[in-house]
Amino acid sequence: MERIKEAVEIAKAARSRLGEGEPRELRTTRPADGKGKRKSGFVPGDGEPAHLEPKQLKAMRIVADDVADPRSRGFEMLRTQVFRKMSDASHQTLGITSPSAGCGKTVCILNLALSIARLPERSITLVDLDLRKPQIASCLGLPAGPGVDDVLRGRAPLEDIVVVPEIGKGRFRILPIYHASRNAAELIASSQMAELVQLLRAQDPTGIILFDLPPVLAVDDVISFLPQLDSVLLVVASGQTTVSDISNSERLLGATEIMGIVLNKSEEGAEAGYPY
Ligand SMILES: Nc1ncnc2c1ncn2[C@@H]1O[C@H](COP(=O)(O)OP(=O)(O)O)[C@@H](O)[C@H]1O
Ligand SMILES: [Mg+2]
Repeated sequence: MERIKEAVEIAKAARSRLGEGEPRELRTTRPADGKGKRKSGFVPGDGEPAHLEPKQLKAMRIVADDVADPRSRGFEMLRTQVFRKMSDASHQTLGITSPSAGCGKTVCILNLALSIARLPERSITLVDLDLRKPQIASCLGLPAGPGVDDVLRGRAPLEDIVVVPEIGKGRFRILPIYHASRNAAELIASSQMAELVQLLRAQDPTGIILFDLPPVLAVDDVISFLPQLDSVLLVVASGQTTVSDISNSERLLGATEIMGIVLNKSEEGAEAGYPY
């Protein structure tokens, strides 16, 4: 309970402390005199195109873009479960966390996102919110640019950070982060963060928004962000996560719906290290 109280305090203080001396307003588009301006904001499919190198993806254990890879099947099953549960409950946002670092959150969320992106009728937004240890851009080999942290600080308009990988029908957008933030707790608890999530929801009311979050037991960022989430997926790692880690995580997640627990890194029944 102490940690929940502390997170609430951080959230209250965030508005006053965030980005002192910096613009605070969340910007969606460039100013009218900006270069190469797109005045209408963006919709899914509107963003910087990015080619993803298959070799890079494989090296990072990202396999779900390749139907021929047997490891992609586990993610197809996960995708089906996620869709069923999200549409049954009319959910739009899903956060992925784990008790501790290194359980495979980023690997799982990227595979899940790519698996969803292969479906022509679906649209998906993937947001890196592990502000202390962002990994999505480096896993995908994206060239550096402004990220979610810059949008929250008012340094970049939202439309400038959107990356659209060349996968599926272009209804897959990524909001990456390129640098770790020192004031992660304030950024994630800020009103700009809540505003950004509202905007993403409004821009794609029938799409799914996935958030790659930090570990729930390590920092309070996840607790601060819970009000923005419809549900949470907990990734646990075989040989690393303990039963008490799981129950402590469930306790901290409180009333937020835990959609499921993904057992990662298990060797039992593995086709190639990706059993679920
Ligand atoms: N199923 C798996 N089998 C083996 N190694 C894995 C598996 N999933 C993830 N890893 C590796 O574990 C490490 C941590 O994964 P990562 O996704 O970065 O964790 P997190 O985002 O939870 O900190 C990475 O080196 C990743 O390649
Ligand atoms: Mg990660």
